[in-house]
Amino acid sequence: MVDISTTLSGIKLDNPVIPASGTFGFGYEFADYYDINILGSISFKGTTAEPRFGNPTPRIAECTEGLINSVGLQNPGVEKVVNEELPHLAKFYKKPLIANISGFSLDEYKLCAEKMDAVDQVGIIEVNISCPNVHGGGISFGTNAAAAASVAKTVRSVTNKPVYIKLTPNVTDITEIARAVEAEGADGISMINTLLGMRINLKTKKPVIANKMGGFSGPAIFPVACRMIYQVYEAVNIPIIGMGGVRSADDVIELMLAGASAVQVGAENLVNPYACKDIIEALPEACEKYGINKLSDIIGGAH
Ligand code: SIN
Repeated sequence: MVDISTTLSGIKLDNPVIPASGTFGFGYEFADYYDINILGSISFKGTTAEPRFGNPTPRIAECTEGLINSVGLQNPGVEKVVNEELPHLAKFYKKPLIANISGFSLDEYKLCAEKMDAVDQVGIIEVNISCPNVHGGGISFGTNAAAAASVAKTVRSVTNKPVYIKLTPNVTDITEIARAVEAEGADGISMINTLLGMRINLKTKKPVIANKMGGFSGPAIFPVACRMIYQVYEAVNIPIIGMGGVRSADDVIELMLAGASAVQVGAENLVNPYACKDIIEALPEACEKYGINKLSDIIGGAH
């Protein structure tokens, strides 16, 4: 019997498969499709201090092997998430959650972290400093090592829960940012968020997306994710949640060999609502195929 469990900062997951924030709502929406308790964890919709309507439409552009989104962190705000969404999710999902938070200032990150710290359901706080679709926050913290470190320090100071910083690939050297947040007490890294991309409509001769650019995700970015996870694994001593174009059990194994302790599935949920279930069910057989008895033993195995 293959052991596909893994551990993140002392939290044992039955398996490493986690739906990525922004691709799985608040989780309960998928309970109509299958028993979501099979998931290793859930990273729920990115939450900000205030409610956000999001960016103007169109927000999505289809691409070969992926899509561009410019959602703009649409969410009902931290009060409603904590008081309504998470209690509703608790009826369906009984395991520790990953709370994905975003901000436009250090105070907003602090507020969201404090609110999530008080929620028993939350096991890990995932701090998004990598959203490419908003101005004055998100990615502007994630592309500068000092700014990234200041977010890590701020969040670290207001919670005892593990803090994972979600990094952008839109930088020259992602290891510099990873080392900076580790130095300020980050417990782990989530990576990679989307690559900045753009499509132009040949008929209108204008950008497809109202905001012009957006975050490119999907299978096309998988090799970039694999490369960056490999690099960051060598640069830091904290666990990595890997993501970027994952759509199969083989992809999960590959990112774990690169250095991921767990793996998030993002864009594939939009194509196939059963994607995470399919991957979890396929993992034992895939492990057997590659001679793996205990999945966690292979973390960083490619180094
Ligand atoms: C969005 O809501 O714009 C996507 C979130 C992200 O890319 O971090």
